[in-house]
Amino acid sequence: MRLWHAFVISRGLVGLGLASPLVAFATPPCPGVTPALAAHARPLHDPRVQSCDHLSAEEAASCRRGKAHFSSRVLSADGQVSCASCHVPVSGFRDGLARPRARGVLIKAPRTPSLIDVARTKGPFFWNGRATSLKGQIFWPLYATQELGATEALLARFGGAQAVASDLAVFLQTLSTGPAPFDAYVAGHCGALAPAERRGLELVLQTKKCTQCHKGTEFRGEKAEPMNYVNIPDFAFLGQESSYSADAQLAEGQTFAEVGTAGYVTLGSVPQTLRNLHLRGPPWGRYGSKASLEDFLVSHGSQPQQSELRAFWSRGEIADVLAFLFVGLRSEEKE
Ligand code: HEC
Ligand code: HEC
Repeated sequence: MRLWHAFVISRGLVGLGLASPLVAFATPPCPGVTPALAAHARPLHDPRVQSCDHLSAEEAASCRRGKAHFSSRVLSADGQVSCASCHVPVSGFRDGLARPRARGVLIKAPRTPSLIDVARTKGPFFWNGRATSLKGQIFWPLYATQELGATEALLARFGGAQAVASDLAVFLQTLSTGPAPFDAYVAGHCGALAPAERRGLELVLQTKKCTQCHKGTEFRGEKAEPMNYVNIPDFAFLGQESSYSADAQLAEGQTFAEVGTAGYVTLGSVPQTLRNLHLRGPPWGRYGSKASLEDFLVSHGSQPQQSELRAFWSRGEIADVLAFLFVGLRSEEKE
């Protein structure tokens, strides 16, 4: 635990300083803190939902039902799968696989994303952004035969599909994390970011312009951005039969069968949040094709207009960006 965090928790509004003198919140900003940067910070005293108990009585009941549904295999057609089968609570609500499996079978979908902080984002949800609300997203895994495959009759036993999806959406709010060192830095705790993390922040913001796509307090996209995907194993299998064939823009004359071996395909993909990456991978990328975040970053941004993103990265730059991402944007564990 960093010192600023202990301070914020135990003393409320008082600032800290080892490297910096005692500061209060409205003190002069730390170096590099501009209004544009400040727009990415979460408030240090953010009233967030950390457990069902923090909600009103009615919502708390819904939240507890949602929590039970999340791990209940009874909701699935054959009693074998729950949300927690893929979004494993002890693993950051993800499965750690490149491609998801259910009932021991590879399913036609990209990598399982972590659900940490998912309720903090306004969406759109799914890698291709096809769901505009969190509750609306939940109907997909509930009904998809490859996932839970629930039927109306089954859901009726738990109050119906609408009620089950609402309860799950309320529960997902409790997976929200608190502030990170970056937020403390913006709030005036100038010692909260180490020099490497500050250099990384500068690269993310100014040099590499990551925030063109990774926006707002969650550093997450508000819409899908075009990305090229090359040589994805079994892409043909994925593309032909799933909803993904609809948003793939194949090069002229190209067929899905060719994509997996030599070609590439352009897909709209929602820029994922940059917070709490320690809970999100490896593997990295929509199809889990990169084992390290370093490998992911040097190949990130495949469209011609994204060339500045791929421009040469020195080892030092990579190290600084990773320090900012993994340390500067990592929330302390829930209190
Ligand atoms: C078989 C594994 C599996 C199961 C079971 C499953 N999910 Fe998922 N979940 C995924 C995958 C894979 C994606 C990404 C799919 C995509 O983008 O097309 C995903 C995406 C999501 C997202 C969107 C996250 C984002 O950042 O866009 C939410 C929310 C979600 N799942 C919640 C649930 C809930 C609630 C359940 C239970 C009703 C559930 N999932 C069951 C694998 C699974
Ligand atoms: C042109 C838009 C764009 C820019 C600019 C951009 N990203 Fe992304 N980013 C995306 C998209 C889209 C994804 C979803 C990943 C995918 O499709 O494989 C993503 C995903 C990520 C992820 C999550 C990877 C994962 O597997 O969970 C990280 C980390 C990331 N970007 C870091 C960065 C950094 C650091 C920069 C600046 C150096 C940056 N991005 C610039 C669009 C962008």
